[in-house]
Amino acid sequence: MNEVSPNRPLSPETALDTLGTLLPGMPRLRQGEVWIVGAGPGDPGLLTLHALSALLQADVLVHDALIDPRTLALARPEAVRIFAGKRGGRPSTHQDDITATLVDQARRGFRVVRLKGGDPFIFGRGGEEVAELVAQGIPHRVIPGLTSGLAGLSAVGIPATCRGVNQALFLATGHGAGTRPTPDGIDWTLVGRLNQPVILYMSLRNLPFILDGLGQGGMADALPAAVVASATTLEERVVITTKGELLETIRREGLEAPAIVVLGEIVRCHHTLRQVVTQAVESASGQA
Ligand SMILES: C[S@@+](CC[C@H](N)C(=O)[O-])C[C@H]1O[C@@H](n2cnc3c(N)ncnc32)[C@H](O)[C@@H]1O
Repeated sequence: MNEVSPNRPLSPETALDTLGTLLPGMPRLRQGEVWIVGAGPGDPGLLTLHALSALLQADVLVHDALIDPRTLALARPEAVRIFAGKRGGRPSTHQDDITATLVDQARRGFRVVRLKGGDPFIFGRGGEEVAELVAQGIPHRVIPGLTSGLAGLSAVGIPATCRGVNQALFLATGHGAGTRPTPDGIDWTLVGRLNQPVILYMSLRNLPFILDGLGQGGMADALPAAVVASATTLEERVVITTKGELLETIRREGLEAPAIVVLGEIVRCHHTLRQVVTQAVESASGQA
């Protein structure tokens, strides 16, 4: 019988068996195989069941800096954890070294999980890792994850689409945005003309340049804006402001990466929803 007590937590083997019972046909991570797994924005509760099953099977876990410690703790205790992050006061891990590690560990016959923040294929270089696995003939599988730019907003009550407000979204990285336009860079002036919400990953450093371009395209300073930092983690911080106040708000509040910046009328839906939710809670508890 699989009884769970606080003193005797569910073993990874029992948890995996339970998952297998719930999901007949659940794929098994084989020796010499690599799974590229999206871990979502932070909260382990937002992992997919396949991601959890990967953690419970891995011999080797090659993980990014942004993986929540609570998620890492779900892996088998004996799994070897290899840090492959590009931050955290530690020297950056070169992308070539990461893929070489994946190939090497798989060739040694280990069951390898490459755990990446959010979704592996959204601004995450997962495509490069898969391409190398294919080139080296390593069997692999991609497990999608919730991307921070969407899940991070939902988690704080900002709908990425709101009926009657927007018909599209523009998701972008600010990482490559330099101090002046480059031929292969984003034309932020053009984006400013779209009149649709803009959701920015990795944008804090280049935000002045980006905002300048968006403004030249016609994006008004009064447009609502929000920053969700460390979304769904224990350090989560949310600020609601306007495009014109964004830089000063970020400075004043000391907001740091990882952060999602969103500009658009959808931010106003946040207030609407919160008001509705608050009213509902108050009337349910007889305070209205
Ligand atoms: C290299 S990109 C990886 C994106 C990831 N693949 C995804 O789908 O979310 C890293 C950037 O994602 C965003 N990010 C990731 N996790 C976040 C979180 N928990 N809260 C806010 N932003 C996050 C930040 O903009 C961060 O600089």
